[in-house]
Amino acid sequence: MKKVITYGSFDLFHEGHYNILKRAKELGDYLIVGVTTEQYDETRGKLNIIDSLDERIENVKRTGFADKVIVEDHVGQKVEDIQKYNIDIFAIGSDWAGSFEHLKDYCQVVYLERTRNISSTMLRNKQHPIIRIGVIGTGRIAERFVPEAKYVSGVIVQSVYNPHIDSAKKFAERFELDLYSDDIETFLKSVDAVYIASPHETHFEYAKTALERHKHVLCEKPMAFYRAQAQELFRIARRNNRVLLEAIKTAYCPGFVQLIGIARSGVIGQIRDVEACFTRLTPGNLRETTDAEYGGGFTEFGSHTLLPILKLMGTDYEEVRFDSIMAENGIDLYTKASFKFKNGFALSKSGVGVKSEGQLLIAGTRGYILAESPWWLTQSFEVRYEDPNKKEKYFVKFLGQGLRYEISDFAYMINGHEGRSYKFTEEESVAMAGVMEEFLRRRRLQNE
Ligand code: CTP
Repeated sequence: MKKVITYGSFDLFHEGHYNILKRAKELGDYLIVGVTTEQYDETRGKLNIIDSLDERIENVKRTGFADKVIVEDHVGQKVEDIQKYNIDIFAIGSDWAGSFEHLKDYCQVVYLERTRNISSTMLRNKQHPIIRIGVIGTGRIAERFVPEAKYVSGVIVQSVYNPHIDSAKKFAERFELDLYSDDIETFLKSVDAVYIASPHETHFEYAKTALERHKHVLCEKPMAFYRAQAQELFRIARRNNRVLLEAIKTAYCPGFVQLIGIARSGVIGQIRDVEACFTRLTPGNLRETTDAEYGGGFTEFGSHTLLPILKLMGTDYEEVRFDSIMAENGIDLYTKASFKFKNGFALSKSGVGVKSEGQLLIAGTRGYILAESPWWLTQSFEVRYEDPNKKEKYFVKFLGQGLRYEISDFAYMINGHEGRSYKFTEEESVAMAGVMEEFLRRRRLQNE
């Protein structure tokens, strides 16, 4: 019996998929089809899969060509499968010609002609018109956003806004954007969605204006400094049927999503304490260290540290206490925010003027999780137990600057697909604004 194997994502199942399965089956007597998981595709940089794994498997089965369907979830699996299932022929579309020569040591490799003029990517683009994104602000983070957006299909960064026209012009020229403007209304008319990367205290007003003009909003953190403002933004978004997402990039990274999943899985028992630290020594002449109203360690980096705390301990803390080391100009150089929850504690440490080990520690009743610096670009973490010999280390790929994940989720939601908003919820976003509000209120009092 001649055994054939082939692989693919088989998203939005189309004629090309049907043809390749038919031809692969004709090469032998028994066909195995490997369907990729969303996570595996993510690590390969394919961030736009729409159909669930179940649906994609179901579609492959429905053709009647597959004698067996398996799931492909890691690099190196093809070699394993070929040996495990005693495969004679590995078949794949001609778009991959030359890419699988290394498998020739194990079986015959056949590149089958690809069907012309059809692909999942084409269908995705046809199903949803390209989302035109405009960037508000031209600072350091905005500069990273534009190149990252190129890795997400279905979106294009089209224009930039800055109240200083020279900055907008320079940015547009550098990134070859079609339009730049210092007039917010003109700018908003040119886009479907905005990415807000302006100074912190302007986030709320820009987000509100954009949502009121029926634009989707991806807003840098902190989205708002007042709980009521965050609530108001979500209200407008809902009323106008628009997506509003706070751009805490860690929340959308595959590694962090997995870390949270494992923490919640019960392997470390019940979570009782979360400690998160993020510090970056910041020169004295930057906004972070000079803006006496909204600068400082906590407003700058607290969104990072609050993220795992609110996700794992919940949003209804009983008490929060802030201890800060202050600079002469009234900003906090270093802040410890200690939370008391019904069933445990949490500690956030953030700073612009004190350096510490940036780690995330999640303590449970059966074990703990340790993610070392830079845990916010989550690439690895370890689950540890009482028995020091027993530990599990996880490695997850993190591509580029990591902004592509939040952009991909943003586009996915704009296109009306569900199932990704759990990564950072409205409730968590509102709670975060509430903590910021409390911090600023106490800092103002202290500075008076
Ligand atoms: N395939 C094909 N003809 C097409 C499209 C895909 O023969 N027009 C083949 C691929 O070569 C591969 C298999 O179908 O062997 C699964 O490919 P997959 O990557 O799932 O499909 P694409 O449509 O190419 O997806 P995308 O646009 O997301 O890359």
